[in-house]
Amino acid sequence: MNKIGNDIDIAAELLKLGEVVAIPTETVYGLAANANNKKSVEKIFELKNRPASNPLILHFSAIAEISAYVEHMPEVAIQLAQKFWPGPLTMLLPRSSKVLETITAGSDFVAVRIPQHPLTLALLKKIQFPLAAPSANLTGKISPTEPIHVYNQLGEKLPYILDGGICEKGIESTIVGFKNDEVIIYRHGVITAKDIFDVVKTEVYSSTEIDKTITPGMSISHYAPKTKFFLFDSVDEIPVNLITEKTGLISFNQIHAELQLSNQRVLSHCSDLNEAASNLYKSLYELDALGLQLIVGIKVPNVGVGIAINDRMIRASS
Ligand code: TXA
Ligand code: MG
Repeated sequence: MNKIGNDIDIAAELLKLGEVVAIPTETVYGLAANANNKKSVEKIFELKNRPASNPLILHFSAIAEISAYVEHMPEVAIQLAQKFWPGPLTMLLPRSSKVLETITAGSDFVAVRIPQHPLTLALLKKIQFPLAAPSANLTGKISPTEPIHVYNQLGEKLPYILDGGICEKGIESTIVGFKNDEVIIYRHGVITAKDIFDVVKTEVYSSTEIDKTITPGMSISHYAPKTKFFLFDSVDEIPVNLITEKTGLISFNQIHAELQLSNQRVLSHCSDLNEAASNLYKSLYELDALGLQLIVGIKVPNVGVGIAINDRMIRASS
């Protein structure tokens, strides 16, 4: 059996046996296990070197399956589910007693989503349990958007990587919670505050305005390449002493005349923020493999999906 393949029967069998399998989603690859099997879920934490205090997202194939795992779904959550699922949105909902403690890390809330990737949706329909899955990277490293990114970090330890090609969106799902009828964004993603507002028509807040501690994984340094990563607001702000042949650049839409072309990655030549999001992690992986002294990132316009891209670059640089 090849370690990387697109056979959902193999993936389903391994998951039923309690194994951990990497799965494609439209956002990033996930490291999945049977969410009802405590030993399997614990394997995820071991493999990723993830602190037990950092909870996992449950993945389902249909809204009806979720009801057994949550106490209640507010009206605004139902509206968002109908609009954005399957898709890159995760919702924090009051958990039911069916959810393993290991998954929620002691919280009264459980994170749920229906991913959009056809292979993973077909896999979820084949099995009788939801999949607990964090991003398929080692804790603190860059999230994988291609099978090879998973293989290079975890390949030795995984029985199977379900190959669904390149992740279309390229950054992790937007995470929201609810307070009364208001929506709170805990992690920005390609579904933006405006996208959410257009559906719910009530206030949408950012967690920075409310409570930074509720999503534990967001408080630590994340998405970091091995190479030192510095972030600037514009190309003009890069100090001249940082411009050498060992410097890499990730920019939104322009190349830097004084840097080697092979050390540069443009996220979107046509200034499209969605395209930029889909190229971000791939670009970080590529530049990280070049043995550079440092990588310089330039912030993208801080609007819409740009907010999520800048958030990931800020974390990569911290
Ligand atoms: O796009 C995604 O969401 C991907 C794909 C695989 O679905 N998954 C993902 O999972 O990014 P992960 O574990 O890398 O990030 C999930 C974030 C973490 O910051 C975690 O702390 C937070 O969600 N989270 C999960 N369950 C939570 C809960 N019950 N309460 C608060 N935060 C939670
Ligand atoms: Mg992650």
